[in-house]
Amino acid sequence: MLRIADLQVHYPTEHGVVEAVKSIGLEIQEGEFCTFLGPSGCGKTTTLRCIAGLEEPTKGHISLNGEDVFNSQSGVNVPTHKRDLGMVFQSYAIWPHMSVYENVAFPLEGAGMDKSEIRSQVARALEMVGLGDFAARSATQLSGGQQQRVALARAIVRNGKVLLLDEPLSNLDAKLREQMRGELRELQLKLRTTTVFVTHDQDEALAMSDRIVVMNKGAIVEQGTPTELYHTPRHLFTARFIGKADVFECEHLGAEDGMGRVRTSLGDFSVSDPHSLGKRAGYVMVRPEAVEILPEGSQGVNCVAATVIRRVFVGQKTEYEFSTAGNTKLSAVSPSYIDLPIGRQVTLQFKPERSVLLERD
Ligand SMILES: Nc1ncnc2c1ncn2[C@@H]1O[C@H](COP(=O)(O)OP(=O)(O)O)[C@@H](O)[C@H]1O
Ligand SMILES: [Mg+2]
Repeated sequence: MLRIADLQVHYPTEHGVVEAVKSIGLEIQEGEFCTFLGPSGCGKTTTLRCIAGLEEPTKGHISLNGEDVFNSQSGVNVPTHKRDLGMVFQSYAIWPHMSVYENVAFPLEGAGMDKSEIRSQVARALEMVGLGDFAARSATQLSGGQQQRVALARAIVRNGKVLLLDEPLSNLDAKLREQMRGELRELQLKLRTTTVFVTHDQDEALAMSDRIVVMNKGAIVEQGTPTELYHTPRHLFTARFIGKADVFECEHLGAEDGMGRVRTSLGDFSVSDPHSLGKRAGYVMVRPEAVEILPEGSQGVNCVAATVIRRVFVGQKTEYEFSTAGNTKLSAVSPSYIDLPIGRQVTLQFKPERSVLLERD
């Protein structure tokens, strides 16, 4: 549906050339909800603007539905309004002097559709975002969340091939953001519009996406479904950027009964190697919820003696930080009705099937 190949964006500045996008290649399937996730400045917006035709890439190739919209070799560069896209950007501009209806109808009027058709399309889009009764309201009489929905209705009313969303929820307060997250995903599942969503918020990415593309420093680190990237990341950057992780360096010793054997400063561990890294493995990663907290002196595979040094009660669970004899810091969680005091000695066990080998940097 959407294909990007060798996309590069360079900005000349007084301090030399900024390589905002280094060489991105990517395919997004029809109906997919694909999220670009990465820290601020990693090139998410620039990539999205290239797809939209708002930014001219230095080099590369972008096609929509099999047709080139940008190709640096052949010189094709289709203007934004002919790419058939819906867009919502971070600072969603709602026109304050217009009614809700007029805001949403605007892109259709520009496209020369007849009045009765426009009326029914706008009604349908407003209904979809839960603003069916608000058509006559002035846009300024709406709450932040309602304005956000107007922006969304305006993006979907054109029924474009692809919906591009750049941090559209970031101006909303936490509660509303979470609500809109669910609503937006439900709407997308209903319409099955191919969607490219940009965020730096890992929770948003995990909750909404079919697939997440992890980006850093103008390049793609790796991509996968939310569960793949959370449970079996390949790269240290992903392990640390998505969720919390205990990570330690390791040396690969070999494989045994389908499990890898590694040596770490905490001892020799049995681990899983979902990406068949073998000798290329450089780290073991365990998510805190996959670390078993056992009584002091417990024996077994992947066991480490540790002492509670911090605990944070967060309601549904308690997050602990531990220290080992060699002063390695480890984290684990327990249900909050279990209460371990600071200084308590325990044994931590890393479940082998949840201890994942990561690629060496
Ligand atoms: N017009 C520009 N001129 C120079 N540098 C730019 C310009 N636009 C973006 N950049 C730089 O490109 C990099 C990527 O920016 P951006 O795509 O906005 O990142 P993100 O959306 O992931 O936060 C950043 O280092 C940013 O400073
Ligand atoms: Mg951005």
